[in-house]
Amino acid sequence: MKNCVVVGAQWGDEGKAKITDLLAQNADLIIRYQGGCNAGHTVVAHGKTFKFHLIPSGILYGNKICFIGNGTVILPEYFQQEIDGLKQENIDLSGLKVSPLASITMPWHTEIDGQSERTAGKGKIGTTKKGIGPTYTDKMQRIGLKVGDLYSETALSEKLDIILPVKNKQLKELYDLKTYTKEEVLELCKKYAEIFRPYVCFEWQELLRNAKKENKKVLFEGAQGVMLDVDFGTYPFVTSSNPVGGGAAVGSGYGPKEIDEVIGVAKAYVTRVGEGPFVTELEDEIGTLIQEIGHEFGVTTGRPRRCGWFDAVTMRYACLVGGLTSIALTKIDVFDNFDEIKICKAYKDIRDGQIYYDYPTDVFIHKYLEPVYEIMEGWCEDITKVRKYEDLPRNCRRYLERLEQLLETPISIVSVGPDREQTIFKN
Ligand code: IMP
Repeated sequence: MKNCVVVGAQWGDEGKAKITDLLAQNADLIIRYQGGCNAGHTVVAHGKTFKFHLIPSGILYGNKICFIGNGTVILPEYFQQEIDGLKQENIDLSGLKVSPLASITMPWHTEIDGQSERTAGKGKIGTTKKGIGPTYTDKMQRIGLKVGDLYSETALSEKLDIILPVKNKQLKELYDLKTYTKEEVLELCKKYAEIFRPYVCFEWQELLRNAKKENKKVLFEGAQGVMLDVDFGTYPFVTSSNPVGGGAAVGSGYGPKEIDEVIGVAKAYVTRVGEGPFVTELEDEIGTLIQEIGHEFGVTTGRPRRCGWFDAVTMRYACLVGGLTSIALTKIDVFDNFDEIKICKAYKDIRDGQIYYDYPTDVFIHKYLEPVYEIMEGWCEDITKVRKYEDLPRNCRRYLERLEQLLETPISIVSVGPDREQTIFKN
C-alpha cells in the first residue's frame, strides 16, 4: 500500500467509512486531518455497529496508531462519549493519539453555531450545530484554544485573559448569549484536560518522523467532501475546513510529498444535507426512490438527505481541486432495478442557453442552471454478489467506463453493497 488520502468527492456521506475501513487494514498509521464531530461514520465490525464522529474507525483493528491531527476541531464531551462507547465494547484504545495542536470546541462555539443558524434567515447554512464554523473562526482569529493549552496553567491563564474579553463582547453584543467568567472556563479546562490526558501526544513529531523512517503506511482520513471545502466548495454553503486532498498535508504534520495517492469516494448518484445549490437534485418520485433504496438519512443529525443524479460537472471539478488520483464509486447497486440512469454531463443556463462543461464557481448563478443529461441503459439485475469487474453486467461496465471518460480519472474501486466483501478492485 502507498500512503493514501481518502476524501469525499461530493457533499459528504459518500461511503468513505467503508473504503477507509478497507484501506485501514493495510495501514500502520491513520491520521484524521480536518473537521470534527460534524462527520458521521458507521462501521460494522465484531458483529456490532459502531458510529464514529471523530476517532478514526481504524481503531477497531487494535494494532493501528490513530492520530487526530492538528487540522481537526474537537468537542471534548463528544470525544468522551465516543471513547466511553468504545471502552464499553472493550476496544483497545492504546493506539489513539491526539495532536496538542488540535483546536477545542468550547461551549460558546456550539451556542454561537445554534444562534447564528436560528437568526440567519435566508443565509442559513444548515450546519450540524456542532460548533464547527465558530471554532475554526476563532482559530483563524487567533483566539482559539488548543488541546496542548490545557496542560500549562500559566499559559492557559494568560491566553484566557486575552480571549475572554473579546469572546464575551462578541457573545453579548453580537449574539445576545451568556458570557463566561475566567473561573468557569478554568474549571471546564480542568475537566477537558482529564478527558484528553490519556491520548494527547506531545511526542507527535517523533511519532511522524519514526513512521516515515520505518516506511510505515499512512492513511489520511478526510471528512465531509470536496464540495463542502471552505475554499473550493459551494461557498458559503460549506463546512469551515479543507477536506480536499491538499488538506491532508496541512492538517496532519506531514508534507505533500508524503502523499502517494488520493482516492476520492463518490456515490453513483449525489446526496446533500443542509442548504446550498444542487443542480441535479430530484424533487420527485425518483429522488424519493433513491433516498429509500440508498437509506439516505444522516448519521450525525438524522436529517433526510437530498438526492439527485450523478453530476459529472461537479465531480470533474472535484477530481481537479481534490487532487484525486482515482475514484472509489459506491452504492452503484442502488440502481439495480432502474431501467435507465442519467448522468449530468453539462449545465445549461436557462437565461441565455449558455452551456457549462466546467463547474461555475459562482454558486449564486446555480439557481439558473439545469442539468444536461445523458441517458444510459440500466442493467436490471442484482450486482451485490459480483466480485470481479468483468462479471459486472455489460451496461453496468458501460456506465462506469462512461464516468471514467467524463471525469478523466480512473475508477479503482467499485462498491456493490455495505459489506467489506462487496467490493471490486478494478485494477
Ligand atoms: P458544519 O460543518 O456543521 O458547519 O455544516 C456546514 C455544512 O456542511 C452543512 O451543509 C452540513 O450539512 C454539511 N456537513 C458537515 N458535515 C457533514 C458530513 O459529515 N456529511 C455531510 N454533510 C456535512
